[in-house]
Order: sequence, then structure tokens, then C-alpha cells
Amino acid sequence: MPGAFGACAPTVAGRAYVVSAVLSVLGICGSLRKGSYNGMLLREAQRLAPPDTSIEIADLSEIPLYNGDVEAQGLPSAVRALRVRVRAADALLFATPEYNYSIPGVLKNAIDWVSRPVDGELPFDGKPVALMGAGARLGTARAQYHLRQVCVYTNMLPVNKPEVMVANAWEQFDKDGGLRDEKTRQLVTQLLASLAAWTRRLRAA
Ligand SMILES: Cc1cc2nc3c(=O)[nH]c(=O)nc-3n(C[C@H](O)[C@H](O)[C@H](O)COP(=O)(O)O)c2cc1C
Repeated sequence: MPGAFGACAPTVAGRAYVVSAVLSVLGICGSLRKGSYNGMLLREAQRLAPPDTSIEIADLSEIPLYNGDVEAQGLPSAVRALRVRVRAADALLFATPEYNYSIPGVLKNAIDWVSRPVDGELPFDGKPVALMGAGARLGTARAQYHLRQVCVYTNMLPVNKPEVMVANAWEQFDKDGGLRDEKTRQLVTQLLASLAAWTRRLRAA
């Protein structure tokens, strides 16, 4: 039930609070690869999500390269569909690889399309987001900090902690794509809890 989260009601002590409904989270993966570790991380997050959180995963494979001339003729359908899903989601969950110490072009390109104002609408504006990533030795740390920088201009609002940086990704997943390490599973679980709490806090403000 996209966008169902966040019905407000008066409470004891006269303070508004948010009645929990289903929190709809859109997962966005920075890798198109079928065997992507970041895709596995997102699917693990789906399994670890609490009952009041549903995570769907966006498909970036049909998003064309950003081109202002194309944009001027009307948004491509895959871009329009992604914008609708971003807007409808209560929160976003990025899982990004690190390419050359930054985020992959695939992810940056999709963000560039969605960041464009269309009919005065900015789907990222004020959106609560969480970041995680699976990569090599530093577990996408540098890419995630670049993604945080992108969040500044687009006014996405990332949770700060915990940081989920899965190093040596090729060792971390079992044959079914599950995380082998219990501590890493706990970190993903905590990140989802932080995202839910952050989303509630923003909605209540
Ligand atoms: C073009 C390219 C650049 C890469 N640069 C980095 C890098 O800077 N840091 C890093 O940790 N891994 C780097 N890698 C390795 C990726 O992190 C690794 O391939 C990862 O598994 C990709 O994510 P995926 O499994 O979700 O597709 C690079 C891979 C590619 C293809």
C-alpha cells in the first residue's frame, strides 16, 4: 500500500503522533547486474524488514542516459514510472556499489532524471532515505559519502546511523543470496528501524 504511512492523530498529552500503518520503502540498486551483491543486499533487507514495512525494488534497466533534448520532448516512460514510484514511497533505500571511488553512473543517471523539476514537482524533495552498499575493501564507504553529497542538492534526508558498508562482498553472501554474518544482518535490521523512526519523525514534525 504505497504512501499509506503516516496518518496523524491526536494523542495523550496533546502531542501529535503518527499512527503506524505500512511504511512503503522503494529500494534502488546502483547495479544492473543479475548477480549483483547490492541486489542481494536489497533482497535481504526485504526479508529483514519488520511487518509494518514493505520494500519494493525499482528497476533502473530501462532508464536512458539523461539528455536535456529528450527531456524537452517529454519524459521517457521508464523515467516517468520511476518518478511516480519515488513520489509514492514513504522512504527510499539505496544499495550502491562503489565505482572508481564514487557511485555508479547507472545510479547517478537515474537520480539526475528524477531530480529534474517537472510541473513544479521534485520527487526527492524532503524524502527520507537510507544508504547501504556492498563492495570491496571499504564496503562502498567512499561511494556512500558521495551519495550523501548528492542528497544535499536533491534535499533527500538520509539517516546517519547505522552505516551499512559490506566489505569483501563476494565472501558475505551464501548461495541463496542471504548474508552469512549475523552482525551484518543486525546492522541492516537496525538501518531499517532507523529509517522507519526517521520517517515517522519527519512526518510528525
Ligand atoms: C567500473 C568499476 C569500478 C570499480 N571501482 C571500485 C571502487 O572504486 N571501489 C571498490 O570497492 N570496488 C570497485 N569496483 C568493484 C565493485 O565494487 C564490485 O564489482 C561490486 O561487486 C559491484 O557491485 P554489484 O555486485 O552490486 O554489481 C569497481 C567495479 C567496476 C565495474
